[in-house]
Amino acid sequence: MHELPITVRVNGSPREAVVEPRLLLVHLLRDVFGLTGTHIGCDTTSCGACTVLVDGRPVKSCTMFAVQADDLDVMTIEGVADGERLHPLQQGFYEEHGLQCGFCTPGMILAAMPLLEEPAAVDDHAVRRAISGNLCRCTGYDNIVRAIQWGLRAASQADGPRTPPAEPQAL
Ligand code: FES
Ligand code: FES
Repeated sequence: MHELPITVRVNGSPREAVVEPRLLLVHLLRDVFGLTGTHIGCDTTSCGACTVLVDGRPVKSCTMFAVQADDLDVMTIEGVADGERLHPLQQGFYEEHGLQCGFCTPGMILAAMPLLEEPAAVDDHAVRRAISGNLCRCTGYDNIVRAIQWGLRAASQADGPRTPPAEPQAL
């Protein structure tokens, strides 16, 4: 099959590959670039475990061809932390026990990323809507919603996620 050269900016660094047009983005990330934090949980575009950001928007990378990502920015879970410092959303999953097996967690975190654009305006309904394309077979979702809310509160605080954010005041 005819192969095509592509360049994808993955977590801020340009990565080159020569790929068959049928190669899915998730396989480019996992099998060619070795970024196995992007998971595969189904073959029906249902589970969201493969979610990454493409030009800042969540995309199920099992439903996009690698060649479609040519010259675009892709963020995977490997690019979320700041060195050893967890991203507030990652810290939120730790603080609120937002995972059990953890298989869905990378996709959940990437799916929640756009909520950071306006964290103060996000309620539980908005969180559940943001992750509505992502399935978790372990947690029952409540802790995931709390984890994301923790992360959003932490992200909106100047001193970052190491200081537990205050709970919202009851009215
Ligand atoms: Fe399940 Fe992509 S692997 S939606
Ligand atoms: Fe196991 Fe979500 S923590 S699938």
